[in-house]
Amino acid sequence: MTIDNDQAALAARFPAGFAWGAATSSYQVEGSTKADGRGKSIWDVFVDEPGRVIDGSNGEKAIDSYRNVEGDVSLVKELGLHSYRFSLSWPRICPEGDGRVNRAGLDYYQTLVDSLLEAGVTPWVTLYHWDLPQALENGGGWPKRDTAERFGEFARIAHEALGDRVKHWITVNEPWCAAFLGYASGEHAPGRQEPAASIAAAHHLMVGHGLASRAIKEGDPDATVSIGLNFYPVYAATDAPPDLDAARRIDGVQNRFFTDAALKGRYPEDVVEDFSAVTDFSFVEVGDMELINAPLDCLSVNFYSKFTVTGDADGGAVSASAAPTDSGSPWPANDHIGFVTTGLPQTDMGWEIAPQGLTETLKRLHNNYPDVKLAITENGAAFPDKLVDGQVADSERLEYFRAHVGACADAVDEGVPLVAYFAWSLADNFEWAWGYTKRFGLVYVDFETGQRVVKDSGKWYADLVRHARSHGEAQ
Ligand code: FCB
Repeated sequence: MTIDNDQAALAARFPAGFAWGAATSSYQVEGSTKADGRGKSIWDVFVDEPGRVIDGSNGEKAIDSYRNVEGDVSLVKELGLHSYRFSLSWPRICPEGDGRVNRAGLDYYQTLVDSLLEAGVTPWVTLYHWDLPQALENGGGWPKRDTAERFGEFARIAHEALGDRVKHWITVNEPWCAAFLGYASGEHAPGRQEPAASIAAAHHLMVGHGLASRAIKEGDPDATVSIGLNFYPVYAATDAPPDLDAARRIDGVQNRFFTDAALKGRYPEDVVEDFSAVTDFSFVEVGDMELINAPLDCLSVNFYSKFTVTGDADGGAVSASAAPTDSGSPWPANDHIGFVTTGLPQTDMGWEIAPQGLTETLKRLHNNYPDVKLAITENGAAFPDKLVDGQVADSERLEYFRAHVGACADAVDEGVPLVAYFAWSLADNFEWAWGYTKRFGLVYVDFETGQRVVKDSGKWYADLVRHARSHGEAQ
């Protein structure tokens, strides 16, 4: 079978109207962190602390997307994508995190949205992809309820400005990372290691989701509102009771905590019980769970790998990001749990490649929450690419995408209501604590010159989308 036929057959397994896209986030691509009245985010402050980012780099330049709207949009167009997912930098729009608006910040996103629409590309906007205004962190950050209130206000401002043209909204990206890498392990900004506060942060991120969702729906009842969660199938290393319990615990925090809150209006009892070792949940106020349980039009699924765990403390707790910096455990009340590898091939992040886990995850989500549509809003892999004679032959990434898109098709075959797939990422960018050392793009970026080159995986993906177009227009 030629590659071309392979893509045609794969594309044909998805329903008409399926949206194919690629994703980025503001701090990872924009650069221009001091331009035009942008305020500081927690990442601007964090990257200045020695040892936080492995290569000592920061997002000041990133891939210069702020100054290069046309360049990014033409890449999206060149790949033929239906949709582009990007995030709004909250401190670019509200430099102090309160209701005062920086027009120039909004203008950038207005231009980006208009250019995408002109190019026939549907924007999917994430409101929070981890760049909290530092002013709000100074006031206590996500462990404080006020941050959630301010986020609701920001959502209203963003929706008032863009809601006439943007119909797809993702409130919060990966609250697990924002709460537990940001406030428990300290691998991510703001770098705090406070297990109890991290659980309060997780709750307030969910309250923020509820408030943002309400603001968007009040502005446009027809908008599609979603939350972005990162899922991992979790397996016990053996059938021994401590390993089985470890799997239940990690699955609880990683997969069920946020989803049950958003879709069932309650935190899972067993997780609350586990967390009671470090917090009394006194931060949960009357009405919070109803707010968090606001109707969801779509659940955004970010998927990279699987976890295999053991109850043996010596296994060594790692995080989803396995950041290279000195850090605590991102698993409050569960730091006795170890993570093991199972001999599968790994990406450059050390993440095991487990595409069947994606099919399983989608089927399980549909089974547990049958009423909500699902979208893959991130899926991808880092590999150490080389630009040789103007080409990037990234066959491992190509295979990763082929396998994972196939895994999505398997889930669709079994009746999962999947509506979209976004590759992470459109282009190589600033990979948080890993700086510029990990490449996830469909497009290679020379970080010195800014030159962009579509990788072989990008060409493969573009062909897939071209075939998909023959099955009907995207939503
Ligand atoms: C996800 C993040 C995204 C990127 C990928 C590799 O957890 O949402 O920004 O870092 O991992």
